[in-house]
Parts: sequence; C-alpha cells; structure tokens
Amino acid sequence: MLRCAYPDGFDTDSRPGTAIIVAHVASGSVCCRRDHSTTRDASSVHSSDAIGAALVCPRARRRHSFSVRAARGDAEACTLKSRHRSGARHARRRPSPERSRAESGETVTHAPVLLGEALDALSVQPGGRYVDGTLGLAGHAQAILTASSPDGTLLGIDQDPDARAIAAERLAEFGGRVTIAAGNNRDLAAVCERYRFTAVDGVLLDLGVSSLQLGAAGRGFSFQHDAPLDMRMDPAGALTAATIVNEWDEEAIARLIWELGEERASRRIAAAIVRARPLGTTRELAAVVARSARGGGKIHPATRTFQALRIAVNDELGALREALYGALAMLRSPGGRLVVISFHSGEDRIVKEFIRREGSDCLCPPGVPECRCAHTARLRSLTRRVITPSPVEQAANPRSRSAKMRVAERL
Ligand SMILES: C[S@@+](CC[C@H](N)C(=O)[O-])C[C@H]1O[C@@H](n2cnc3c(N)ncnc32)[C@H](O)[C@@H]1O
Repeated sequence: MLRCAYPDGFDTDSRPGTAIIVAHVASGSVCCRRDHSTTRDASSVHSSDAIGAALVCPRARRRHSFSVRAARGDAEACTLKSRHRSGARHARRRPSPERSRAESGETVTHAPVLLGEALDALSVQPGGRYVDGTLGLAGHAQAILTASSPDGTLLGIDQDPDARAIAAERLAEFGGRVTIAAGNNRDLAAVCERYRFTAVDGVLLDLGVSSLQLGAAGRGFSFQHDAPLDMRMDPAGALTAATIVNEWDEEAIARLIWELGEERASRRIAAAIVRARPLGTTRELAAVVARSARGGGKIHPATRTFQALRIAVNDELGALREALYGALAMLRSPGGRLVVISFHSGEDRIVKEFIRREGSDCLCPPGVPECRCAHTARLRSLTRRVITPSPVEQAANPRSRSAKMRVAERL
C-alpha cells in the first residue's frame, strides 16, 4: 500500500502507483502536474490531485508510483516522490481518458436522465444553439447535437476537468459544432458572452453529481471508496468536506445536515462528528454517522449526510440560483427553452419559485392596491406538473428515481 499524507494532516491509503503527478522540488516549492497538463504551485497541491489524476490515467498507474507527503499547515514543504519504473514519457503526455480506460478495462457510464423528455422540452431543431450548463459525460449533449444535425451548435460548461476531458472525446465527432468551457454555471451568462454564444434556443441544467464523480475512488463523493473527505467538483475550489467536518461548529454542521440532507438525526450526527474529530476519510465519517443515525431504511444511514456535505462543498443551491438568471439572460426571446432536471427538493423548490417569479407580471406583496414593482413576466411555464422518469427508466436507472424536470419558455 502507498501512504498519502495530506497537507492538512489527514492520512489515507491508496493503491500503489495511483498518481501520474510529475513533481519536482525547486526552491522549496513543488510543481504538480495534474492530468498531464496543469501546473499548480505547492500551496494547492493535494493528494486528492494524485488520486484524481489516476482516474484519468490508469495507464500511468502501471508505470509510476508516487507518495505524497506534507506536514499539517505546511503545504510548501510538500514533497512528491516518484518511483518511475519507466521514463517520464507518460507523465508529459496526456493520454485520452477514454482510451486509457479502455486499455485498463475500465468504463465510465452515466445514463442521461429523462433524455427523450429533455430533447422534446428543448424542442431541438437543426441549426439550433444550445447550452448544456452541466455537461458531465455529455450524454444529453451528444443527443442534442445529433438531433440538431447537421448544423446545430452546443456550448457545454462543466467545472470538473475530468468530466470535460471525457466529454471532449465523446463529442469529438461533432467537430466545430461543439465548444467545451471550463467554469461554473453560476457564470453561465459570462461564459456564453465570452464565446459569443448568445440568444440561444435552449439551456439545459441536469443538476447534481455524475456517476464519474461518485465512482471516482479518490474524490470522496461516496463512502463506497475509502478516500479523503474532498467532494469538490472543481478541484480548485476552496472548501472541502474535510474543512466542514473538522472546522465548522456543531450547530452549523447540524443545520447543514438538516437543510441539505433532510436528515432527522442531524443534531446527533453533528455532535458525533465533532466528538470524532479529526476525521480524514469517507469511511471514517460514514462509520461515525452510521453509529448515530437511525439505520434500517433502504439507504445507507450516511447517504443523506454525504449528500448534504457535497451540496455545501460545491454551493450547489447558490450556483443554481445564479445559473437560472444567467440562462434567462441568454435565451432567445421569444421562444428559447429552459429545461432543468433536479434531484433534490431544495433544487426543485428554487427552480419552481424562479419560474413562478419570472412568469409573473407583478411581484408586489398581496394587498397592495396598485402595482409598483414594474416587473414584467419573461418566462412561461410549460410544466404545470413536474415531469418524472417513467417506471421503466426508474427500474433501469435507479439514480433517476428522484429526478424532477421543469420547463419554461422565454416570452
Ligand atoms: C448529473 S451530471 C450531468 C450529466 C450529463 N447531463 C450527462 O448526460 O452526462 C452533472 C455535471 O454537472 C457538473 N456541475 C454541477 N454543478 C455545476 C456548476 N455549478 N457549474 C458547472 N458544472 C457543474 C458536475 O461536475 C457534473 O459533471
């Protein structure tokens, strides 16, 4: 086993040769080349980078082994040692993530949820312009590009570099019809402006986490793998799950687990987390939660707590609020379509309230005799009731069970 010590002091085990990081120590600093392409300074080096990097390069896994060591609070002293069995050739060249997976027998799949319904709702047409604000593994994007052939275009945004790399390969066949942008969809309007991709015919948001992220052994989204408590979709994000569980006060943790996880045992779990500090890995946290949450349900007792942490780490509700306004600003008027697939009641509430608000001609409080807000409706809801996956889809893809889709049209 290879031992990785975190800059913030947490230990975790990972399989031998997990990293493709190229590191060298120069003038007391470390350069970490992640995904064979990004050079980062020592202050942002994390052993999750090593583990995450392995995800995109299983081929390198066979050739290199690395250890990551750093003292608590002393990221500058971080050293990454590599034990090459063969040269650094693979560390310089970024191989195709998909090809690497194929070579190692690994496959990543993410069944796009409500795919047919989303295409219908977007009313995809040849020559149309579409934004996928949650590109993921490009399942929806691929279908949109196919349905908008021969000349429809798509701008895909994702904050996760691993997802973007896979999406780029999957969409390569569409050539210049696709643009993939790194970024947070809370900046959707700014990203569209940057690529001069405005007055679009449709915006799709398929919220939440992808199978790639859940299945990634080193990113801490799931307790199925023992991994550092990270959970960042954007590896450059400032907040990690480790920070929340180890540094936030008990009251704030309880509120988070209650509000974002809808977990009835939130107070007990928060108290147990604080008692068990420091917590370093997903399995440690899952065990602490399991001891304090009520078991016996259909899901693992730690599921809701993990969901709450992930939503908080990535500020998913805050990003959604901003993304909706960005989408509204970019939709062609009239007729552009907004399609949002959510998996959490808090997300659906935000979408529903947004469509209601932007579908109203007046936002004055009830009882005001004359309208003073001068608000005018910019959207028309096309879904009186949320659209949910058919029983067949739910049976085939259990992840789809909690999906809710809402659709609105720009006036
Ligand atoms: C459920 S997956 C999308 C799956 C995709 N529709 C497909 O068919 O493969 C959600 C994706 O959105 C990304 N994501 C979530 N929130 C985001 C945000 N605020 N900004 C940018 N990307 C985000 C995640 O990194 C993830 O890759």
